[in-house]
This record gives sequence, C-alpha cells and structure tokens, in this order.
Amino acid sequence: MSNYTTDDSGIPVPSDEHSLTAGPDGPILLQDYYLIEKMAQFNRERVPERQPHAKGGGAFGTFEVTNDVSAYTKADLFQPGKKTEMLARFSSVAGERGSPDTWRDPRGFALKFYTEQGNFDMVGNNTPIFFVRDPMKFQDFIRSQKRRADNNLRDHDMQWDFWTLSPESAHQVTWLMGDRGIPRTWRHMNGYSSHTYMWVNAKDERFWVKYHFKTDQGIEFLTQEEADRIAATDTDFHMRDLWQAIERGEYPTWTLKMQIMPYEEAKTYRFNPFDLTKVWPHGDYPLIDVGTMKLDRNPTDYHCEIEQAAFEPSNSVPGTGPSPDKMLLGRWFSYPDAHRYRIGSNYKELPVNSPHAAPLGSYTKDGRMRHHNAGDPVYVPNSKGGPHADVAVSGESPGWYTDGEMVRQAYTLRKDDDDWGQAGTMVRRVLDDAARDRLVSNIVGHLLDGVTEPVLARAFDYWRNVDKDLGDRIEEGVRAGQK
Ligand code: NDP
Ligand code: HEM
Repeated sequence: MSNYTTDDSGIPVPSDEHSLTAGPDGPILLQDYYLIEKMAQFNRERVPERQPHAKGGGAFGTFEVTNDVSAYTKADLFQPGKKTEMLARFSSVAGERGSPDTWRDPRGFALKFYTEQGNFDMVGNNTPIFFVRDPMKFQDFIRSQKRRADNNLRDHDMQWDFWTLSPESAHQVTWLMGDRGIPRTWRHMNGYSSHTYMWVNAKDERFWVKYHFKTDQGIEFLTQEEADRIAATDTDFHMRDLWQAIERGEYPTWTLKMQIMPYEEAKTYRFNPFDLTKVWPHGDYPLIDVGTMKLDRNPTDYHCEIEQAAFEPSNSVPGTGPSPDKMLLGRWFSYPDAHRYRIGSNYKELPVNSPHAAPLGSYTKDGRMRHHNAGDPVYVPNSKGGPHADVAVSGESPGWYTDGEMVRQAYTLRKDDDDWGQAGTMVRRVLDDAARDRLVSNIVGHLLDGVTEPVLARAFDYWRNVDKDLGDRIEEGVRAGQK
C-alpha cells in the first residue's frame, strides 16, 4: 500500500478533503472524477443481506481428525490424522443485519472446509431438528418470522398462527422456547447437521450419518431477562465475544461426533430417519468421535471474508453425499442460487469461497467480474489436453434406490412417527424441573406479547399435545397474565 492516497486506478490524488470547485465558493466541477469515484463506490458498498441468517459473524480455524472413521467414509478430510483449514460463520435466522444477537432464535452453524478434494460445507444450526419437513413450507415459515406487510413489525401472532397450523414444528418450537433458544455465546452452543447425510467408504459401502459438533466450552444459555437486557445495550454481544476470545488466545473448540446408521437399517427404523423434525435417539445410534474443530484466526476484512462467504450444502466431496431428506434436497438447489443473486455468478472466485487447497479443472467461464478463465480448450470432450471427468477420482454419485408414482404427500409414517412424541420426550425426560419452569415462563411471555384468538386457543392445544401438564400450565399462565 502506498503512503499517499490514490484513486482506484493507482493515480495519486491531490486532496482527501476538498472537491474541485470554480473558486472557493463556486460550484463543483464534473471533471472531479475522484469525488465521483468516492460517491459512486460508496453507493455500491453493500451487497444484499442474506434472506435468512442476515446477522452473523465468523472466524477461521482448523479441523483435525483424532479417530479412525475410514470404515465409514473415504472423504479425505475425515481420514486419520488429517488437518484441514476451515471457516465458520454463526448467525441468527430472522433478524436483519443489525439485529440484536441475543434475540430468541435458532443459530446458524455454517462451516466450510478447504479440503484437497474441493470445498466441503456443513451448513447446520445449533439445533438437531427443524420447524418443517418439506421445502415447500420454508419460505412461508421464514416470512412468518420476519415482518408484517402493513406495519413492518415482527408479530408473534403470525408466528404462532404458522406454528399451530404446522404441528410438525412442535419439536423445534419446544427446543427454541427452552434454555438453548438463547445461547450465552456462540462458543457455548453445539452445531448439528440436523439433516441425515450419506457417507461412502473406499469399498463404496453406504451409511446414513448425522453430524454433531459438541462445544468443548460447555453449553451455557441466557435467560430471557438477561438476553433482553443485553439486546438493549449491546446488539453485537455474540460477535464481540467470539472476536475477543480469539484475540485473547482463548480459541474455542468443538468435538465432531457422528451418528452412523447402516444403509439397510433406514428401511425399517422406527422413525423415518430422513424426517428433519426428528432426532435419532442416542440410545439407538450412539455418538462416535471423529475430530476437533478449533477457531484461532479472526477475519481481517469482514466484508470480503464473512459477508461474502457463500456456504452451500451441495459442496459435498467424494465420500459424502445427500440423503432423501426433502428439505436437504431443496437446499441443494437454493444456496448456490442465493449466492448468484446476492454476490454474483462468479462468487466462487472470491478467495474465501475458492477451493484453494484443491486443483481446479472447471469449464465454467466468463460472466460479470470474472478475473480468470482456464483458457483453451473451452469445451469437453476434447483431445487438446483439457480435464476430463474421472469416476476413479470422483467416485460414483452417492445415491439410493427409488421407485414410485410421482406424488405430493408427506413421508410415509413409521411406527413411532408423530409430530408430538419427541417434543414430549424432551419436556418430560430431558428437562429438569427448573428448565421446565423456564420453558413455561418463556412460552407464556411469548404468547402474551400480541397473540390473539383463535391462535391462542390453538396454541394451548398445541402444547397439550406435546405434554398435557405443560399445556395446562401455559394456559393458566397466559390467563393469569391477561388479567
Ligand atoms: P438422550 O438423553 O440421550 O439425549 C438428550 C439430549 O438432549 C442431550 O444429549 C442433549 O443433547 C439434549 N439436551 C439437553 N438439554 C437440552 C435442552 N435444554 N434443550 C435441548 N436439548 C437438550 O436422549 P435421546 O437421544 O433419546 O433424545 C431425547 C430427546 O432429547 C429427543 O426427543 C430430543 O428432543 C432431545 N435431543 C436429542 C438429540 C439427539 O441427537 N438424540 C440432540 C438434542 C436433543 P446434546 O448431547 O446434543 O447436547
Ligand atoms: C442461509 C435457504 C433450511 C441453515 C440460508 C439462505 C437461504 C437459505 C436462501 C441465505 C444464503 C445466503 O444468502 O448466503 C434455505 C432453504 C431451506 C433452509 C430453502 C429449506 C428448504 C435450513 C436448515 C438449516 C439451514 C434446515 C440448518 C440445518 C442455514 C444457515 C444459513 C442459511 C446456517 C447461513 C449460512 C451463512 O452463514 O452464510 N438458507 N434454508 N437452513 N441457512 Fe438455510
């Protein structure tokens, strides 16, 4: 960098402070190209914020494999002893880019691993489940969380309207209204793939898997009162915490543990193992250690490295793949499409998104802001020395058997599948009395904030379906609060 100011063409400029005018009191002259460059570039500084997950922050680090899971996957990044450079971005879902970090919301847990087989992204949340199970409902769900059309306000009535008309949301809403709905910091929460994915080993054997990144800092949460107080005084509480911890040399770590289901077992498992509103109970599929993720480097340029970071579930390297989870298959399309709109069609050329640990052999070319093309030959097949697809390197596309009439309907129900069961298990078996009391208090407070009939009556039934006693206590609390 020069020690004198230049314009973007490197030409030294005569002043940082004064525009060119006809006399000190006269009008500004059009040929002051530097003033125009400053104004024009300023007007174009922002890229659109992410549609959901607009508010967030991140850091770089490494993932190191500490166990041997090569029996389940041939992916290079999961081989024994392997260390891979990576990026993490944590976010909240519903708020805008400046919204308070401590609002009650699921948190995004998006990871990009720069592997030698290309970039692998795990775009998860801090919850193991989700509100809906069909991508057709995702847009409506997010709109119900954002702002009304008329007054531009967020509105609990529309949130509960959507939830109570979508009983599959009950498990995730129970989770959200509980302690983990407001993590103390991003360092004190787990990350989950939530979805079921596929792993493929060197013998081309297939497994269904779920990723669990367990915080080594321990789970900690904020009460509603603490979170409200912080929201009023420090909207960037979580972003600041992560940045400062890394600056202090207190590098947060997470242990990756997997649940692994043999391919054939999915056919007869008591829950549909691809339904995103369900977990696989640990008792059925215990967690298997894989390795440790450590974040130890703050970004130096938030716009270039975090705002323009583009995560996409479809960044899936050999040895990994999708599953029949309909939500996941919807996301496979949605993210690259969002990035082409938000950042531009050449978003993968940006350093933060480029697969810099892997050789590139792509035939895409040109387009806005492209700064490098592979050159000739520009077509394939060719006999001119260009790359050719090689299944010995890629492996077969990880897939599964499918057959059936085209339909629009929910997954076929299994023996233990219903919308309330796992939520009820959490309330009765996982939470202790104090956590259950806070759950009741959080839900009552939320419902008292603008939820009207008939939504309110439906909300009481919704909670009675999860747990009779919980529903009764919630109705009592709301009725008492209305007086
Ligand atoms: P387990 O007793 O083996 O697991 C219960 C899990 O619940 C814990 O391991 C912990 O997940 C999580 N948990 C603890 N406190 C809370 C809380 N306040 N809010 C949200 N989650 C919490 O039982 P099962 O595996 O049989 O699952 C029972 C219920 O636990 C499920 O129906 C589900 O609601 C919930 N759960 C299950 C998870 C799973 O993957 N099996 C994951 C998270 C929740 P962790 O160890 O990941 O911190
Ligand atoms: C962000 C779509 C479900 C986790 C986004 C974005 C879109 C989107 C368009 C903005 C991307 C961007 O502009 O960079 C969808 C669709 C879904 C879905 C269509 C369902 C069909 C989920 C689920 C999870 C999830 C189930 C978690 C398991 C995230 C995360 C981000 C995100 C973490 C932020 C990524 C980042 O930090 O840049 N989603 N989403 N989404 N989504 Fe989803």
